[in-house]
Amino acid sequence: MILRYSNENDLILDQFAGGGTTLVEAKLLNRNIIGVDINNIAIDRCKEKINFNHKTANGKVSIRKGDARNLYFIENESIDLICTHPPYANIIKYSENLKNDLSRLKIKDFLKEIKKVAYESYRVLKKDKFCAILMGDTRQKGHIIPMSFEVMRIFEDSGFKLKELIIKEQHNCKATGYWKTNSVKYNFLLIAHEYLLVFKK
Ligand SMILES: C[S@@+](CC[C@H](N)C(=O)[O-])C[C@H]1O[C@@H](n2cnc3c(N)ncnc32)[C@H](O)[C@@H]1O
Repeated sequence: MILRYSNENDLILDQFAGGGTTLVEAKLLNRNIIGVDINNIAIDRCKEKINFNHKTANGKVSIRKGDARNLYFIENESIDLICTHPPYANIIKYSENLKNDLSRLKIKDFLKEIKKVAYESYRVLKKDKFCAILMGDTRQKGHIIPMSFEVMRIFEDSGFKLKELIIKEQHNCKATGYWKTNSVKYNFLLIAHEYLLVFKK
């Protein structure tokens, strides 16, 4: 995503920075990046991860504790690429009781809050630039819940136009064993992909 949709010295945003993967890659590829996360543990991890020197890695990384729903510290139309990975509602909880952590919300509430994320993403991104969101689905009481499609609609309703819909295959994840046992017992298929939604402003 970074190579395809940005240039050297561009400013990237990852407002759900987590363990800092996007930050590291941006630094290595000579892009500047703002990393935001609500969780101090993630912020500390990001700081550790980007603390390296490499001859050709000149991207500047700025890390900030904050809420993806309110990026007041980022000016309108100042970002060249958004490359991010929100929680999938409460499928994986990233904290026990951290206020404003979207990974504590049930799907309905999560989707309501994602609207604010989409709105802020649209506000800070420059016109004609791209916003890449990685999003997964889930299953409840045996039925698939296509959360990623809902998120896609929400971003479209905020003004973005869908440019690409990329399927990211994934196998042998931490929870695959658990789901495999249940999929045989209750007769359903395993989810083995996520969607990488690429929008253009
Ligand atoms: C799926 S993880 C990101 C993983 C990341 N792509 C990586 O490679 O490590 C989602 C992150 O969103 C953070 N988060 C949850 N609610 C947030 C909010 N309101 N604003 C910013 N970050 C939030 C969580 O703390 C978690 O670190």
